[in-house]
Amino acid sequence: MNPVKIGLLGLGTVGSGTLTVLQRNADEIARRAGRGIVVSHASVRTRSRLEGLATQDIRLSEDPRIVVDDPDVEVIVELIGGQQPAFELVMRAIENGKHVVTANKALIALNGNEIFAAAQRKGVMVAFEAAVAGGIPIIKSIREGLAGNHIRWLAGIVNGTGNFILTEMRDHDREFADVLAEAQRLGYAEADPAFDVDGIDAAHKLTILGSIAFGIPLQYDHVYMEGISGVTRDDVAYADELGYRIKHLAIARRTNGNVELRVHPTLIPERRLLASVDGVMNAVVVHADALGPTLYYGAGAGAEPTASAVVADIVDVVRTLTGDPENRVPHLAFKPDQITDLPVMPVEDIETAYYLRLQAADRPGVMAQVSRIMGDLDISIEAILQKEPGPGETTVPLIMLTRRVVEKQINEAIAQFEALDSIIGKVQRIRVETLG
Ligand code: HSE
Repeated sequence: MNPVKIGLLGLGTVGSGTLTVLQRNADEIARRAGRGIVVSHASVRTRSRLEGLATQDIRLSEDPRIVVDDPDVEVIVELIGGQQPAFELVMRAIENGKHVVTANKALIALNGNEIFAAAQRKGVMVAFEAAVAGGIPIIKSIREGLAGNHIRWLAGIVNGTGNFILTEMRDHDREFADVLAEAQRLGYAEADPAFDVDGIDAAHKLTILGSIAFGIPLQYDHVYMEGISGVTRDDVAYADELGYRIKHLAIARRTNGNVELRVHPTLIPERRLLASVDGVMNAVVVHADALGPTLYYGAGAGAEPTASAVVADIVDVVRTLTGDPENRVPHLAFKPDQITDLPVMPVEDIETAYYLRLQAADRPGVMAQVSRIMGDLDISIEAILQKEPGPGETTVPLIMLTRRVVEKQINEAIAQFEALDSIIGKVQRIRVETLG
């Protein structure tokens, strides 16, 4: 049987990694897929990228639309990234009756509902394993391996750049900007690193995870998002003293007929496995009713780790080329007519514990004022840490851990603290999850 011809859009980091893996492991991949797989046509924006890649048998075009319209190509692999022109190209590929594999999280999170509906109409597959947590097969694990379970919650470190920054701040007391520049040099950071730091990239990935875990539509607009740029080295050190690590978590949870979808810095107990996930590594904990908790850990970015997921998707597509479309694993894990619209909770209604850091005047009675506010609002304090004033300073950091409380209540407490003349500046607030 003739090999399946692939059209590759983009020969950047992930594109060249995909080509390398497909060529290096060609024999084994063919034994798994049942057919050979070759890249026959690729689009490339900068030809300097081709150095060191075996592209002699590959037709190269500058315009990706020529690849998408190539009648010989059966599967389009979109590795350009970003919403446009990727969306237009993917829709055109579907319209041309081609299957699509993509690593593009923004595209799936923002346009996935439309893309999957179009794919459904045309009877083609759209596979996107590499869009979440790079090489970790988290989509397949949730969609297929956990198909018998009711998934209660999941929590993940799904942005390597942000995790690298927090790890370096903790372990080497480094400056934020300096660590970010290193992540960019390593090729982990997004084209616009604000996507990493502000939580946008993690929110794209959470949107996808939430949908396949709970059978809800993709709804990026409802994800609550907070970045890591407000986390200071002091917060990292105080969290350590209290037995916690600060991680930038993406959390999806079912709560009484609602779902929570949120990305924010989070204190987690240092004994949790997730707390030891350092550097650019990614990990996702999934809590399922039958299986209990499972942890999926691995490289969340990089050329070959991401290519590993892209190639696995290509193999899946090739395996089903002769299969019945009705019997394929649904794009979003649940049959399209079984997607339910559970409401996503506003962040004010979500209940978590909190880490609060206040800068307080170093004089008698301040602690009593603070405790009174907490007591009046029925918020229990779990731990308090008061640091010594620095030489010549008249204020002290006051760190509190609270028990679980609805976010509205903590907002009210913070507003009352900030109105006191004994509290200086803004109150730092970081959510705490025990992940038990
Ligand atoms: N910028 C992303 C990260 C790349 O740092 O994890 C992988 O999606």
